[in-house]
Amino acid sequence: MRNMIFLVMLVSTTLSSHRVDGSDITLKEHFEFERHLKLINKPPIKSIQTEFGYIVDCIDIKNQSAFDHPLLKNHKLQIRPSFYSKKKEIGVNILPTKIRFELDQIVCPKGSVPIRRTTKEDLIRTKSLLNNNILVKRAAHKAEVYIKPLYGENYYGISGTTSVYNPKCSIAQASASNLYVRNGEGDAVNEITVGWHVFPHINGNDRTFAYATWTSDNYVKTGCYNTQCQGFVQTHRQYHIGAPVQKTSVYGGEMVDMPISIDQDEKSKNWWITINGKPVGYYPQALFSNLKEAVQVGWGGGTIAIGVPSPQMGSGSFPDENFEHACYFKNIGYKNGTNSQYYGPEHYAAETYHDAPECFGVEYYDKQKSPFGYSLQFGGPGGQCGDNI
Ligand SMILES: *[C@@H]1O[C@H](CO)[C@@H](O)[C@H](O)[C@H]1NC(C)=O
Ligand SMILES: *[C@@H]1O[C@H](CO)[C@@H](O)[C@H](O)[C@H]1NC(C)=O
Repeated sequence: MRNMIFLVMLVSTTLSSHRVDGSDITLKEHFEFERHLKLINKPPIKSIQTEFGYIVDCIDIKNQSAFDHPLLKNHKLQIRPSFYSKKKEIGVNILPTKIRFELDQIVCPKGSVPIRRTTKEDLIRTKSLLNNNILVKRAAHKAEVYIKPLYGENYYGISGTTSVYNPKCSIAQASASNLYVRNGEGDAVNEITVGWHVFPHINGNDRTFAYATWTSDNYVKTGCYNTQCQGFVQTHRQYHIGAPVQKTSVYGGEMVDMPISIDQDEKSKNWWITINGKPVGYYPQALFSNLKEAVQVGWGGGTIAIGVPSPQMGSGSFPDENFEHACYFKNIGYKNGTNSQYYGPEHYAAETYHDAPECFGVEYYDKQKSPFGYSLQFGGPGGQCGDNI
């Protein structure tokens, strides 16, 4: 577990006074970073410099760093989900005004998978974010639709298609659209989140990226974004988790949207991430203390701001029933059995939650005409949001 605990340790070591070559890290941190990087960056078969300023390494699929995780000692690699069929990759619904959603693609040699190389700069940025959490006021806001079990139902999958935007974010801000599966309360929260976000702290720039996170203890010691720690098993040879999206939607104009799902594999019980019909990889069941099933699933937006006003959420507009205005999730569904079909949430089962109504809104529309299906909108302009900054 050492490498997962290390992020937490950083916070407690920052008070020591040895600084390394003018940068804002201590000598101890410098060695922690080097050790962590050695653990997560495996020897590449091939390396690709992307136009987005980072390197993608093609790593032997059987040798990715996830498999060094202590909980995955006896893990058997799953190449593709048991529910997967090639047919699913085609047939993504495109409206005339729609541009096909695309993630940046990398082609790795057979038997290897693309993994973004984590750099010391990435770790330094992540560290400063954690420190800021403690030293500076941090505000997080949400606007979402979620379902909780009626009559003790459990959930095994969630899906939906969200419009993709590029909300303006400074280095101290983040803005996301995502869906999630969750179980547990307080520090026992087990959760997987997948979606798009603008998060300069994590990505190094203000583009929109597809991302995933996980935790088995409410992010106290476990979990991270994408492949910045051991956990996520990348299986797709072209789409890597944490890749930038190539185009985003224009308010009132062309819409770009992104189909996402998180599904528990019926056989292995691993949680698979599918983006745009492609199974990108999975979180092994063994990572979790309490995610044999989910008791809450949800769809919506979130923002983070550190000592500054909140950024925009979604397109920056409040829900207004016009799907070219506020950010949407359409064709949402959940599975209430591992082998179940997707069901759209009935109005009585869906709850809406938002914590800053002057800044952000969320509306659940129930079942709409094709191609929208069960759908919702969320978002807003941001601002002070009642935060005492
Ligand atoms: C697997 O990774 C180890 C180090 O983590 C390295 O020594 C070895 O060469 C790698 N094997 C392959 C097949 O890439
Ligand atoms: C799943 O939900 C559907 C729709 O509400 C319901 O008809 C079905 O009985 C549920 N199945 C289980 C296993 O709870």
